[in-house]
Amino acid sequence: MCGIVGYIGNKEAGKVLLDGIKRLEYRGYDSSGIACIENGTLRYEKAIGEVVELEHKLNTNPIIANMGIVHTRWATHGAPTVENAHPHMDCRCEIAVVHNGIIENYDYLTSYLEQRGHIFKSQTDTEVLAHLIEENLTDNLEEAVMSAVKMIEGTYGIAVISTKDPGKIVAARKGSPLIIGIGDNEYFITSDVSATLEHTRNVIYLDDLEVAIITPDNYETKTIENITSLKKIEEVLWNMDMIEKSGFQHFMLKEIHEQPQALQNLMRGRVDGGKAPIKLGGLSHCEKDLLAVKRIVVIACGTSWHAGLVGEYMLEELARIPVEVEYASEFRYRNPIIEKDTLVMAISQSGETADTLAAMREAKNKGAKVLAICNVVGSSIAREADAGIYLHIGPEIGVASTKAFTAQVAAFYLFALHILLLRHKTDPKVPEMITAINSIPGKIQKILDREEEIREMADAYKDKNHALYLGRGFNYPVALEGALKLKEISYIHAQGYPAAEMKHGPIALIDENMPVIVIATKDATYGKILNNIEEVKSRKGRVIAIATEGDEQIQGKADHVVYIPDAPAVLTPLLSVIPLQLLAYHMAVMRGCNVDKPRNLAKSVTVE
Ligand code: F6R
Repeated sequence: MCGIVGYIGNKEAGKVLLDGIKRLEYRGYDSSGIACIENGTLRYEKAIGEVVELEHKLNTNPIIANMGIVHTRWATHGAPTVENAHPHMDCRCEIAVVHNGIIENYDYLTSYLEQRGHIFKSQTDTEVLAHLIEENLTDNLEEAVMSAVKMIEGTYGIAVISTKDPGKIVAARKGSPLIIGIGDNEYFITSDVSATLEHTRNVIYLDDLEVAIITPDNYETKTIENITSLKKIEEVLWNMDMIEKSGFQHFMLKEIHEQPQALQNLMRGRVDGGKAPIKLGGLSHCEKDLLAVKRIVVIACGTSWHAGLVGEYMLEELARIPVEVEYASEFRYRNPIIEKDTLVMAISQSGETADTLAAMREAKNKGAKVLAICNVVGSSIAREADAGIYLHIGPEIGVASTKAFTAQVAAFYLFALHILLLRHKTDPKVPEMITAINSIPGKIQKILDREEEIREMADAYKDKNHALYLGRGFNYPVALEGALKLKEISYIHAQGYPAAEMKHGPIALIDENMPVIVIATKDATYGKILNNIEEVKSRKGRVIAIATEGDEQIQGKADHVVYIPDAPAVLTPLLSVIPLQLLAYHMAVMRGCNVDKPRNLAKSVTVE
């Protein structure tokens, strides 16, 4: 969603800020804006649409400054217009603020400030911050920011500059990430580490209710109560290659192709040459607690929720622990039952999804221990969890999640084996299970090598308006995920169903215009799923089957067959999802859609 970059140092701020904010374009936005202090006065520019629009304005009238702030906005309060784009200024245009998050009491604060004579120019919640800071500012910007943020309810990651206290940027956070990048005589502020990688990998992560005061030659962090806080400088392990397309047409395609390597990275050092035990460093301090767990509740959103469903099937099958999977947004509002032996697992690629974060806090308030499966190191969910498993798959930039899904599923598998071994010390099946997961990256590669076949199939179906995805058992969540991939990037209406449910309603939709993608791998329900295919065919539906290599029987039943290598049923989601990702990708590209930045979507959904 919204993105923030700030810079202070000795380079040309305009270029550094624009380059940085372009790295955050993938997060989704509809307008952008920049502010700096130029010859003692506040200068700002805003534009709707892509960052390149802002760049055009700056090309005509370049910024001459060594510090400034820039923002991409994803509209929440007020339409995407120039007035509503950030930065927002105070009445005298001496203060500029960029903000991620939502100010919940902005109505009240607006009336309060209007009564005190402030004039508002936008419909945003953010503008109250500029006026609140104005109310409190004499000559010390950080103190004014501290006073202002104490009055607001909601979430914020902000960066502020002012001509009344020039030569510094003040940043503050509550519930919306902010990172300070530490370079050589230069500092960066960003909501996403991708924006600073080009300059530095040394960062500090601001905590909630902390303020950073950054000048060209120093930085200082304090709580909003003005008490100095000491922060550890951490090294980011991502590099520039990871945030480039590296010859692929889109980040999504790159990330689909990265999956074999991503899974190897996830398993490195954790799964040792086919031998037990599984080493999950982020869980080593809580093995006693894990032994006592009697029930697991998984909370997540979107694709991560689908991975959670696969996790449910895996944990119940392998570790024999009852699992429930909840949409984070539902869990948090319905007074869920958490007992002392309930473990809550929060699943999130970004680690910043607002609903998942809020649900996790709710669970902790109720006394639960929370274990996170997360990709982004240092993210809010990772930091607030009691224990965790990092994915270590590098940044996921394509808005449609692909490699995070397979990595989350693989992490669940390792976790299930870990629990199994904790409980039983040894299990004769485990070495075989480890060998099976070790063979998955090579099998994914085999499917990726058939991309052309899938592209041709995409061509045959690209003009359809609807699609149905069916699967059973471990592949039911994959059907949901396949449908989500297609709808979010190609805008084709698609729905996933457990295959047997088709008879209870969706069958009414089937005719010659309805492609039905059926995951029909050779497992315990294979015979049943063949029946489902017959039911579709006898109503003239078109069937694309995802089948196990060597299955000739299915040839005569489906219109198209995509083969995937054989694997134990519990691991098939890691394979069956790959053709569905490629199918969605190619259909979307053929329909002329912007797959990396689908309309209305954001990479990290930081509003509830
Ligand atoms: C779909 C997609 C979203 C995310 C969801 C949760 O392709 O990417 O559905 O999975 O917004 O995001 P994280 O995993 O970052 O919590």
